[in-house]
Amino acid sequence: MESEARELLQELRDDHRNMSVVLDLLDDLAAQASAGKDPDFELFGEIMRYMTIYPDAVHHPKEDIVYGRLREERPDLAEGLDDVPNDHQDIADLGSRLRDDVEAIIAGAAVRREHLIEDTTNYVTRLRNHMRWEEEDLFMRVDEMLDAEPLEFDVSEFEHIKDPVFELEIEAGFRRLLAGLPVSARRVN
Ligand SMILES: [Fe+2]
Ligand SMILES: [Fe+2]
Repeated sequence: MESEARELLQELRDDHRNMSVVLDLLDDLAAQASAGKDPDFELFGEIMRYMTIYPDAVHHPKEDIVYGRLREERPDLAEGLDDVPNDHQDIADLGSRLRDDVEAIIAGAAVRREHLIEDTTNYVTRLRNHMRWEEEDLFMRVDEMLDAEPLEFDVSEFEHIKDPVFELEIEAGFRRLLAGLPVSARRVN
């Protein structure tokens, strides 16, 4: 049977797969805005709310616990890990800025189209680069640590929090986001 630590790593990888589907949706919305059309701002708002309450509030803190353990147990594999909390914070800041843009638009305020497109591009690029670093480097270091020595991570603080879009109990507030996902990314209920 897989250890809980391995399961957690798999969950983090699954989260990335889900987040990259959502980032593709953001690309589409930015492309529509660049083409002079009005994107679906309700969908845009749901996406940014989702990013705030799951990736920022659950996925990144779980990773911080895993990397903290990696730093303690394997200083030889810890190069660059000091940058991760700042990276997570920057991503959260860029995400809140974009969420504020979209909420302002929904509330009827004037937000320049170029500003919205720029904030979207900055957010998507930063998060994609971060996830790529983790998938191609950091997660593999964690695998290496677990190969050498089985240990567990204490993520009990976050265990009860489900992904509100990709896990079974879809919350009513994310119907539009769920409907916007490609069929291959949806769970069969
Ligand atoms: Fe991360
Ligand atoms: Fe991540």
